[in-house]
Amino acid sequence: DKAKMIVDKDFRIAEVDKRIYGSFIEHLGRAVYGGIYEPGHETADEAGLRQDVMGLIQDLQVPIVRYPGGNFVSGYNWEDSVGPKEDRKRRLELAWRTVETNEFGFNEFVDWAKKANTEVMMAVNLGTRGVDAARNIVEYSNHPSGSYYSDLRIKHGYKDPHNVKTWCLGNEMDGPWQIGHKTAEEYGRVALEAAKVMKWVDPTIELVACGSSSIHMKTFPEWEATVLDHTYDHVEYLSLHQYYGNRDQDSALFLARSLEMDQFIETVTATCDYIKAKKRSKKKMLLSFDEWNVWFHSNENDSKMEPWQIAPPQLEDVYNHEDALLVGCMLISLLKHSDRVRMACLAQLVNVIAPIMTENGGAAWKQTIYYPYLHTSIYGRGQALVPLIQSPKYDTKEITDVPYLEALAIHNEEAEEVTVFAVNRHLDESLPVEVDLRSFGNCQIIEHIVLESDDLKAVNTAAQPDRVAPHKNGKAVVDGTTVSAQLGKASWNVIRLK
Ligand code: AHR
Repeated sequence: DKAKMIVDKDFRIAEVDKRIYGSFIEHLGRAVYGGIYEPGHETADEAGLRQDVMGLIQDLQVPIVRYPGGNFVSGYNWEDSVGPKEDRKRRLELAWRTVETNEFGFNEFVDWAKKANTEVMMAVNLGTRGVDAARNIVEYSNHPSGSYYSDLRIKHGYKDPHNVKTWCLGNEMDGPWQIGHKTAEEYGRVALEAAKVMKWVDPTIELVACGSSSIHMKTFPEWEATVLDHTYDHVEYLSLHQYYGNRDQDSALFLARSLEMDQFIETVTATCDYIKAKKRSKKKMLLSFDEWNVWFHSNENDSKMEPWQIAPPQLEDVYNHEDALLVGCMLISLLKHSDRVRMACLAQLVNVIAPIMTENGGAAWKQTIYYPYLHTSIYGRGQALVPLIQSPKYDTKEITDVPYLEALAIHNEEAEEVTVFAVNRHLDESLPVEVDLRSFGNCQIIEHIVLESDDLKAVNTAAQPDRVAPHKNGKAVVDGTTVSAQLGKASWNVIRLK
């Protein structure tokens, strides 16, 4: 059976906000130490920043990076991480049971972000701390001068304010694992009070309130409704987090999980709009999907970890080919909802459930999931177009009517290009696809990039960094305004047209 797709430039979802291609660096495992920062590494610059890792990040054109957590932020004393390095305190880090040296801190991260050509999305601690610490860090970061904390920043060598625009009000406060976990009522109250004073310090900032840690939380979606009841007028975004795994080795179901992600986003959107109606508000709540990825490979190893080490390997998932396919489907899910999802963070960026892996003192390489992230970040800018798709379908034990074809097209008006991102979820057969480009006139194929592998479980390692890598030999052809392609079994495709 053939799959068909209609792509029309007038059927727009939205202009994609580039921040949908954001990522995340947490003080966790080797994300910072041995990841972005390793003084003494042969590629390190004068600030200790690994330039091999920097290059791989710059290639991704990551527009925004969330920091410093994650669960870490709920025990974070930001003051520990600034000022002379020799005075910085070592702390027991209770979220991940390690020792945090604070050798790398807030100001170093802002410096790193500038070099990486990215914006900072900063989180405040609403676990062990609250309103006071939240207003103080905004003052330290964004106030020009003439107050205690702004002058302290200047004393620390940063004359100009950092002007961090985006701030998360805590992290996963609905989760019992969170340091300082709260009920929706408790969190809604403190988030509102923190939001007020943070904006009194700097009215130009934008705030993200915590939504649910996953669609499977018992408190979902009541959590969202209660939190927004308190915070609706004071925040711009509500967060979503979701990770998937293939623990049962059911790849057909695993690849269908992005449909659940669609449903998650749509339910959160509906909940936001319910509160909007309840409040007779004119404001549209936007979404920040600020943690998403595949995460499960490393669970067993992590459960055996010795506590209180400094930057031990943690959450070091080694991603295989099928993980890259689901990541591609999840990116398409974000794009399908780009009218509401304005920010998203692939969690995370280096070593910790990440597209980039390193060895301490050694190489850096691209994991399989690097590629769909790279392709969408580079070619997925412009107008997201409604994917009108007819596809043969399959059933799994949990999700039924799963289309083999997952796809979406982006129209980049400036470059006069159309790009179709497409996954064939069929594990054994190729899928013939016809794309009707009716409104675009005659187009030509620039290239048809394909990520495929004869083994769903194939991975990239330091020894074999290119085992799973894209090629440009896809065979898409155009006839008039119709593109025909045979999508290889279990493949990720990028068909670029001009
Ligand atoms: O990204 C890893 C962890 O996943 C984050 O610290 C937490 O927010 C989530 O549970």
